[in-house]
Amino acid sequence: MVAQRLDGKACAAEVEEELLIRITACKEKGIKPHLAVIIVGDDPASHVYVGSKVRACERLGIQSTHIELSADSTEEQVRDAIFSLNEQTGLHGILVQSPLPNHMDEEALTDLIDPVKDVDGFHPQNLGRLVQGRLDGMLPCTPSGVMRMLSWAGIETEGKTAVILGRSRIVGMPQSLLLGAKGIDSTVTVAHSRTKNTADLCANADIVIAAVGRPEMVTADWIKEGAVVVDVGINRVDDSTRERGWRLAGDVHPDVASKASWLSPVPGGVGPMTIAMLMENTVRAAEQSYTV
Ligand code: GUN
Repeated sequence: MVAQRLDGKACAAEVEEELLIRITACKEKGIKPHLAVIIVGDDPASHVYVGSKVRACERLGIQSTHIELSADSTEEQVRDAIFSLNEQTGLHGILVQSPLPNHMDEEALTDLIDPVKDVDGFHPQNLGRLVQGRLDGMLPCTPSGVMRMLSWAGIETEGKTAVILGRSRIVGMPQSLLLGAKGIDSTVTVAHSRTKNTADLCANADIVIAAVGRPEMVTADWIKEGAVVVDVGINRVDDSTRERGWRLAGDVHPDVASKASWLSPVPGGVGPMTIAMLMENTVRAAEQSYTV
């Protein structure tokens, strides 16, 4: 079997087309969706991600505010920035780019974002709604992007066995809640660094979602013939054959394409979907600002 490409770029382009209509409707009501991104420090990958978010805003006509703080900023400075953005009317979404420098308590800071502006869906109120099975609120962008991509490709989830590799706050844990939610109805196993039989669990799974940050860890022998494999990993690996000396690699080895029925590529799979879902959450927040 040769896997079909789960093309996040194409799916994201469709999401953006739908969003343009909703953004026009907002503007007709005098509201321009507005997203603020706070980035602290100089992690190169984070700056690339934030750049992509700002460019997506430009493409769609969403206003963006980009707040950059140096790595030696205090937690109080980030707190003050969040409080000030919470108060700003006409600003609909706030995102604090992860990771923050080690001296900051990322979760405590996330807790300070006004839940109606929490376009990352990481506030306990929004995550709590997800735990309750209420899927109509702010959902974390990468897991909801994965779900949108599966549905766009017509991939069945009901009654399927799914293995999520990784239990992070940003991807693995919310992904497991989404896949197991009523109406989506997969039977979910979350594997993590202490799991003993990860390869065996994967070998029995209809759907494997890899979000661990270990380059090409998932190999073809882990995968059942015809399984759906979603690669959420994005890792920089040394590659002397490239002029720049490195290349991007996912958590899934490319040979998995010989076993899977669907495989999302890195790059061009989940990455564009994360951004599309962030844009959708921002538009939803703007819409709610005139419907409440
Ligand atoms: N860092 C990596 N992914 C994300 C994300 O989805 N949101 C935020 N805020 N930071 C991230």
